[in-house]
Amino acid sequence: MVRTSQARRKRQPAAAHKTTLPARAPVQRVLVTGASGFVGRRVLASLRAQGTEVVAVSRRARRGQAAPGIIQVAADIAGDGWIEWAAGCTAAIHLVGIVREVPRQGMTFDGVHRVLTMRVVEACHRLGIRRLVHVSALGARSDGTTAYQRTKFVAEELVRSSGLRWTIFRPSMIFGPGDGFERSIVPVMRRLRVFPVFGDGQTKLQPVSVEEVARCLVAAVECEACESQIFDLGGPEALSYDEVLRRTARALGLRRRFVHLPVGLSRVLLAIAERLGAVSVTRDQLTMLLEGATCETGPTELAFGVPQQRYEGPVWLRSTCTEGGRVAGT
Ligand SMILES: NC(=O)c1ccc[n+]([C@@H]2O[C@H](COP(=O)([O-])OP(=O)(O)OC[C@H]3O[C@@H](n4cnc5c(N)ncnc54)[C@H](OP(=O)(O)O)[C@@H]3O)[C@@H](O)[C@H]2O)c1
Repeated sequence: MVRTSQARRKRQPAAAHKTTLPARAPVQRVLVTGASGFVGRRVLASLRAQGTEVVAVSRRARRGQAAPGIIQVAADIAGDGWIEWAAGCTAAIHLVGIVREVPRQGMTFDGVHRVLTMRVVEACHRLGIRRLVHVSALGARSDGTTAYQRTKFVAEELVRSSGLRWTIFRPSMIFGPGDGFERSIVPVMRRLRVFPVFGDGQTKLQPVSVEEVARCLVAAVECEACESQIFDLGGPEALSYDEVLRRTARALGLRRRFVHLPVGLSRVLLAIAERLGAVSVTRDQLTMLLEGATCETGPTELAFGVPQQRYEGPVWLRSTCTEGGRVAGT
């Protein structure tokens, strides 16, 4: 019996083995939350470049930022006002996230990561959106050492149990114009000739470019093989924090001396800075920095290709920089 069916199978022409399932219709309109952010802006550009319409939701959306093919919705995901605008979307990319709590403004990790992810999942069900690409972070885990990591993990759990066709990405440090380093480290590096480094500077990061992150997120929307999978996203090199700082200074044309501060002292200084409201880095961010953020990129490379762009510092700022941090022409 077995032999017969094997023989029969052998004789069948190759075409008979092709799947008879109809190909899924290409996604025409995508809901993007956190669209005004550093990653969101790139995701919008990538989606538009391939001709996909976008419904972009964020509180900072401005009419002036509207471009052909993009419906900008100025709304807090926590409310209901934006949902009707997302009608007709067949996929969603959920990017909303914070690295720092601002309880006075109602911005807590739980409120943003867990509650807003729950809102997005509910909205997807309400609107008939079946595909959800969710952005988490390396280090997300139930027993994480920071609330950021733990709430990112809870959000992942919500997505995994949503009944939607989901894909989760966990990026390492993302670099590109407007990145977190540019906003928090670069201004300090421009001011101080002797730059304090928290810890021994040997912790490892795997910076990945924002273009490559956006490319993966957008490709995942139509990738059936990527469903129900978590992809770590890291760049081509694992660099020590010292090396990241050296490359940052070099790109800015700055000569800086790096002085390493013991972790205990760093925490005390950051606690004081947090109290004074003069923080560019929080103690939780220091904890995560000291843990490092590197990953196995094998599965991600198989699905999306090998990441190419190395971190060479904020080279996009180079033309506007001179020693001492003055902007050229000022
Ligand atoms: N950048 C990195 O290195 C990195 C690394 C790992 C993971 N990630 C993750 O990647 C995602 C995107 O990061 P990013 O760097 O693009 O962050 P970002 O620049 O800070 O942008 C965050 C976005 O979230 C939105 N948002 C925050 N609270 C909101 C609320 N209550 N209602 C509506 N929108 C809200 C913000 O929009 P409005 O303020 O306009 O509302 C903004 O568009 C986040 O989930 C982050 O955790 C980033």
